[in-house]
Amino acid sequence: MSQELILIGRAFVNGNLKETEIGISEGKITYVGPSAGRGDRRIDLGSNRIILPGGVDPHVHFRDPGMTHKEDFGTGSASAISGGITCVLDMPNTIPPAVDRETVVEKKARLRKRSYCDYGLFAAITANSRPSKVADLVAGYKLFMGSTTGKILTNDDNVIADMVGEVMNLGKVLSVHAEDDNMILKGTERNCTDHLRNRPAAAEANAIRRLSKFKGGKINICHLTTVEGLNLAKSYGFTTEVTLHHIMFSSDRGSDAKYKVNPPLRESAAREALFKAFEQGEITMFGSDHAPHALSEKENEFDLAPSGMPGVETTLPILMNTVRKGTLPLSRVVEMCSTAPARVFGMNKGSVEVGKDADFSVFNLQNRKEIKGDCLHSKAGYTPYEGREAVFPDMVLLRGEMQLKDGEFCGETMGADIIG
Ligand code: DOR
Ligand code: ZN
Ligand code: ZN
Repeated sequence: MSQELILIGRAFVNGNLKETEIGISEGKITYVGPSAGRGDRRIDLGSNRIILPGGVDPHVHFRDPGMTHKEDFGTGSASAISGGITCVLDMPNTIPPAVDRETVVEKKARLRKRSYCDYGLFAAITANSRPSKVADLVAGYKLFMGSTTGKILTNDDNVIADMVGEVMNLGKVLSVHAEDDNMILKGTERNCTDHLRNRPAAAEANAIRRLSKFKGGKINICHLTTVEGLNLAKSYGFTTEVTLHHIMFSSDRGSDAKYKVNPPLRESAAREALFKAFEQGEITMFGSDHAPHALSEKENEFDLAPSGMPGVETTLPILMNTVRKGTLPLSRVVEMCSTAPARVFGMNKGSVEVGKDADFSVFNLQNRKEIKGDCLHSKAGYTPYEGREAVFPDMVLLRGEMQLKDGEFCGETMGADIIG
C-alpha cells in the first residue's frame, strides 16, 4: 500500500526515541516502524530533529465569542500551533457563557472552519444547566467553585451534588476550578502578595474536599497550586493539572499585574514543593490556562486588572528547553503535554501509534530562542516569560497537514471539533 506521506526521523515511540518511518494516510498514522514502504511524499527530518506527538492543551480561554478583542479562535489556535499544540480544549467563560444547548450549538457553529488546531469545548455547569442536554456536543464539563473571569460561579453544595452526579453518569470529565469561594476575601490589592492573601491556599484544599463524595469519578482538578490540594485530589482518584506559571513563579512578583492570576501565585516554599511533585511525576498533565487579557487592562491599577496570563504558545517550548538542558526527561514532557491529556479526555491523539491522528510536533533541540511577547501569535502581545529561553517547534503537522514549517506558521483553518 502506498502512503500519502512518510515522515522519517527520530520519533518518540513507546517511551523512547528511535529511528522511525511513520506512514500517514487520510490524516491517520498507518505505519510506525523501520521501513514504511512506498509513499507519495517522503520527508526526511535528519538526525538533529525529534518527532513528538502533537501537544494537547486541556485548558485554554480563547475568548470567542464575546471578548475577541483579547483573543479569537484564529489567533488563539495560531498561537497553539506555533507552540507545538495541535489540540486544545476551550473553557466556557465566554460571552455568552457556554452553559446550555443553545449557547454551545451557537459557539460550535461560530467556530467552524476558523481554527488552525483541533479543539473541543467545555460546557459550564451552573444552577440552571442540564449536563445531559449537551453531552453529544462537548468534550467535557467545567465547574467554577471560585469567582474569576466570567460570571459562572457554582458554589452551592446542593447544586454541585445534583450537577456533578449527572455529569458522572455521562462518562465525561468534569474539570474543576477548585477555590472555595466562601474563603476568598475581597480586600484591596496592590500586588501579588495581596492577591495571594485574598485567595489563600486553604481555599484550594477545601474546594477539593467538598468534592470527596465523588471519589473515583472522572474529575480533573485544574491548575493545582499546592501539594496539599494535589494529595487530596490524588486520594480521591481525580486527575490533576498544573500550569507552568504555578511551578515557575512565586508571589514575589510585586505589583506587575501580568502575574495576577487565579488561583494566585503562591509563596516560594509552596511553589518549590509543587515543583518537586511535578518532577517526581505526581501530576497527571499540563494545562496552560491560556487566559489572555489586553495589555492596557494589565497596565491598569493592580486591583482593577483582570486575572490570567497567556501561555498556550510557551508552555511546551519552555519545557523543551529544560529537556535540551537535560534537567527534565523528554518522556515526562510527552506524557504530561500530549499522552495524558489525550487519554484523560478520550481523544484519538497523543502518541505516535498506528490508528492515531497524524499530529506531530518536530523540534530541533539546538534551536533555542529568546521568547518575545510581540513575536507570539496571541492578541495579548505580551508574555510573563519575556526574555526566557525556549525551543519552539520547527514543524507541526495536524492530521498529516503541515501547519508550521521551518519554524514559520503556515496554517490553514482545518482544525475540527473533536466531538464533531
Ligand atoms: O486567572 C484566571 N483567568 N483564572 C481563571 O480561572 C479564569 C481565567 C480567565 O478566563 O481570565
Ligand atoms: Zn480556573
Ligand atoms: Zn482557566
